[in-house]
Amino acid sequence: MVCAWPAALFLGPLLSLLSLLRGVVGVAILPRQDSSSDNDGIHLAVSPVCGALSGNVSEVNAGIDLSSIKTIVSFGDSYTDGGRHDGGPLAPAVIIPPNAQAGGRSTNGLVWNENIANDIGATLKDYAISSAVTNITLWPNNPKPVDFIQQVDLFLSQNNTLDSESTLYTVFFGINDWEDSLTLGDYLPQAAQDLLGQMKILASAPTNAKNFLVTDVYGRGTETTDGQAWLQSIFDGLIEFHSQGINVAFANYARIWDGVLGSDSGYEAFGYTNTSACVIGNGTLTYGSCAQPQTYFYWIPGHPSKETHRIMADYVELVLKDCAV
Ligand SMILES: *[C@@H]1O[C@H](CO)[C@@H](O)[C@H](O)[C@H]1NC(C)=O
Ligand SMILES: *[C@@H]1O[C@H](CO)[C@@H](O)[C@H](O)[C@H]1NC(C)=O
Ligand SMILES: *[C@@H]1O[C@H](CO)[C@@H](O)[C@H](O)[C@H]1NC(C)=O
Ligand SMILES: *[C@@H]1O[C@H](CO)[C@@H](O)[C@H](O)[C@H]1NC(C)=O
Ligand SMILES: *[C@@H]1O[C@H](CO)[C@@H](O)[C@H](O)[C@H]1NC(C)=O
Repeated sequence: MVCAWPAALFLGPLLSLLSLLRGVVGVAILPRQDSSSDNDGIHLAVSPVCGALSGNVSEVNAGIDLSSIKTIVSFGDSYTDGGRHDGGPLAPAVIIPPNAQAGGRSTNGLVWNENIANDIGATLKDYAISSAVTNITLWPNNPKPVDFIQQVDLFLSQNNTLDSESTLYTVFFGINDWEDSLTLGDYLPQAAQDLLGQMKILASAPTNAKNFLVTDVYGRGTETTDGQAWLQSIFDGLIEFHSQGINVAFANYARIWDGVLGSDSGYEAFGYTNTSACVIGNGTLTYGSCAQPQTYFYWIPGHPSKETHRIMADYVELVLKDCAV
């Protein structure tokens, strides 16, 4: 079952509390590896479906060499939100009950992009923020007025001078846009163009981005015609970027969500015992949460556990390796 919990709701009122806590966390708890080396027995049971960078959307890596990446700049929503949203160093990814959010993240450990950064020894600059959509003007009823446009504005306002060749820009939106589209109407075609518009800004001076990774799981186990059209529009945009000498990759987390929540091969094949969330209620507090979170797909409703974030990172790394064209 796909939890219909809005992806967006969790962080807002807690932010001030979390920033208070962060100061305490910084001195009280040393950073440590969150996952055991076997990821608590959770592992991928699906593989990328690689294709060409042409025609129908498929998973592909056209030119990104992870071994040459020294900085990762991430834009996105709660799935990518490392707990602060300005590109600065993240708080330790530890749960301090009853707060259910590890260092302000919507999970109980590291998020997927942190795992990748750690794997390659890169610095992560994370601008993602819980609840974000591509362009808030399209979705006035979104739970929080936050979007990709604001994230890019903040990034640009900092006058970052990052080396284009060794910086990877990750872009992961769609869950909140797609959910909003169910109630507000299908503005996904424009959302896709506006997402590409922000990437175009990043690809231009002064940033001159040369490496873009796009990931997606808009329906979290559900595919629709509108949603697939959104993906195809973004893919068409990636084809265009690549024709201008920019390296691009696309990884579709729907493979994991469909694999876990569907019958091919089902959650047990990944090592999970439960496809629901460990934390109950609105996901902010640990009261009443499950005793064995390690084998739950979600930590808070609709949001990956740290073990799931680990296999999301593994999945991207597989796409970058196996789907190179
Ligand atoms: C693209 O997808 C459509 C619809 O599934 C299919 O009819 C068509 O053959 C596909 N084209 C390519 C090039 O794979
Ligand atoms: C970025 O550059 C602009 C224009 O030179 C300047 O006004 C602004 O203060 C700079 N911002 C930072 C954070 O350095
Ligand atoms: C956001 O959406 C509004 C409404 O459609 C549009 O006018 C505006 O140009 C979009 N902004 C960007 C930066 O894409
Ligand atoms: C979440 O639930 C807790 C406990 O019921 C409540 O105190 C808090 O205000 C809720 N937060 C949000 C964002 O709904
Ligand atoms: C999954 O976890 C939820 C919440 O902890 C619990 O209510 C449910 O019974 C569990 N389901 C299975 C199949 O163990």
